[in-house]
Amino acid sequence: MATSNGALKVERGVSLRAYNTFGLPATAHTLVRVTSDADVRRLLDHPTLGRAPKLVLGAGSNLILSRDPEAVVVRVEVMGRRLVEARDDVFIVEAGAGETWHDIVAWTLDQGWPGLENLALIPGTVGAAPVQNIGAYGLELKDRFESLDAVDLVTGRSVTLDSATCRFGYRDSVFKQSGFGGLAGKSVITRLRLRLPRPWQPVLGYLDLERKIAETGNASPDARTIFEWVCAIRRAKLPDPRDVGNVGSFFKNPVVTAEQCRDIIARDPHIVHYALADGRFKLAAGWLIDACGWKGKSMGRAGVYDKQALVLVNRGGASGAEVLMLARAIQESVYGRFGIRLEPEPVVV
Ligand code: EPU
Repeated sequence: MATSNGALKVERGVSLRAYNTFGLPATAHTLVRVTSDADVRRLLDHPTLGRAPKLVLGAGSNLILSRDPEAVVVRVEVMGRRLVEARDDVFIVEAGAGETWHDIVAWTLDQGWPGLENLALIPGTVGAAPVQNIGAYGLELKDRFESLDAVDLVTGRSVTLDSATCRFGYRDSVFKQSGFGGLAGKSVITRLRLRLPRPWQPVLGYLDLERKIAETGNASPDARTIFEWVCAIRRAKLPDPRDVGNVGSFFKNPVVTAEQCRDIIARDPHIVHYALADGRFKLAAGWLIDACGWKGKSMGRAGVYDKQALVLVNRGGASGAEVLMLARAIQESVYGRFGIRLEPEPVVV
């Protein structure tokens, strides 16, 4: 049932199953669609919804719904895309938070503004991209970030945030943080601006891309080729949420000290690890989970993808509780064998 307050679109009792890529069942008591900054302010001015807690939703591709949210669900549907500026050293491109991320990657490439190709096929919306600082194949959103617009959910003011204010980290930003200065649940991102450096430089350091270079004999691929390689690699390893419910990687890759890494290598010489600039090491969580024998396994209707152990999947009709039960069992076995605590990547409600 949709009712309106001015132009505000308010719906009651909405199933969220189609609004989260894991396909988990949950109901929003109230769902509001916002298509502009003004819509967000209308919501804040609403006599009953204005002060209620809010859960901001994009495509729900990084969300585990373990129950019906108590908050008012705000679905961001701000659209639009444009070239803001073409300078000698950079193209600045802007997209509405409700646009599909992959469509923007493909569109910029079609327009002759390359630079996002390594981030092709990442599910989700433009507005969600900075929240978890999406990353793949050697590139993170922060490497192409110019600024974003957001509406403060307390004051209703529109603000523009730069990279430092967003506090980007590995699959992290100020929008996931609830401690001091954190903005989790406190603002709605409405527009994102990306900076695409000129001249374009390929990002090819990632192992899977090096393999493509070896396979094809093409050592200087153009942006379109890298885009196609990334799409092919992802299609081979990661399930399409339209076919199999999932949220991509379920856990972050854990970071350990050099000493911890040496200890683990002494016990498991094959462990996949990467040196970080600060002297610590990142371990492949997928490898750890795989080594504990989880690949292809199920618990209830939740399972571990058979081609990538870091991805949990919906085998059909799974509940959020089942997914969390499987996640906990995986965490316990990885802790038991390696002494490492895996941290979930998606937001859990
Ligand atoms: N591995 C295994 N067994 C597995 C899975 C992985 O042995 O079941 C090994 C692989 O052979 C490889 C290593 O672990 O040597 C790493 O695997 P992969 O290259 O597939 O990448 P990942 O570390 O598992 C990360 C991101 C992905 C991103 C890829 C490519 C995180 C949590 N995940 O995965 O991001 O697409 O690198 O850059 O950082 C996401 O965040 O949702 C996501 C899919």
